[in-house]
Amino acid sequence: MEVAALVGSLRRQSYNRGLLRTAMLLQPEGMHIYEVQIDDLPFFNEDLERPSDPPAVRAFKGEIDRADALLFLTPEYSYSIPGVLKNALDWMSRPPGHSNARGTPAALMGAAIGRSGTMRAQLHLRQICVQVGIAPTPDSEVFVTFAGDKFNALGELTDQTSRDLVRDLLEDLMDWTHRLRGWR
Ligand SMILES: Cc1cc2nc3c(=O)[nH]c(=O)nc-3n(C[C@H](O)[C@H](O)[C@H](O)COP(=O)(O)O)c2cc1C
Repeated sequence: MEVAALVGSLRRQSYNRGLLRTAMLLQPEGMHIYEVQIDDLPFFNEDLERPSDPPAVRAFKGEIDRADALLFLTPEYSYSIPGVLKNALDWMSRPPGHSNARGTPAALMGAAIGRSGTMRAQLHLRQICVQVGIAPTPDSEVFVTFAGDKFNALGELTDQTSRDLVRDLLEDLMDWTHRLRGWR
């Protein structure tokens, strides 16, 4: 199972990128998580879609197309997802009504330094997924609260409870993807 991961932070020492590294270490057998770069995508502009998507967008959409499922790792910025991730989702949503991302299973995780652990951002992300046609796991959630206490200096997630939740979420994503894709 190929899982394309999108990280909503461009920060070098990002907790959310640390969360991705943890997910890659804990991925269940049969799952392969790979990161899709979103930092080289131009700001979405309909003019750029004609005569065809720019090369960076074509490469991005190709990486999404080969995925069986998606994994979002998002910080919370101003009670929502960062603009860089929204920009990627806007590109993914095109062409309207016919995006290749439609029907793709997904899982959401997030880490933040505060007590909400990206809860509000993830709710917004779920709302955006409805429009794009992405199908997040209904009841698995990973909110890493007070991230400053749960990652070590190397950016590794050391909190065992959070690691268990990451593993559970990935197993649920595997099950959800099998179900939605009719693989069983
Ligand atoms: C512009 C900006 C807005 C933020 N807004 C929120 C917020 O609304 N809620 C929250 O819990 N943390 C907020 N934070 C703090 C982030 O949780 C914190 O910077 C976190 O480490 C970002 O994730 P990263 O480590 O993956 O970059 C904000 C940070 C920035 C830079």
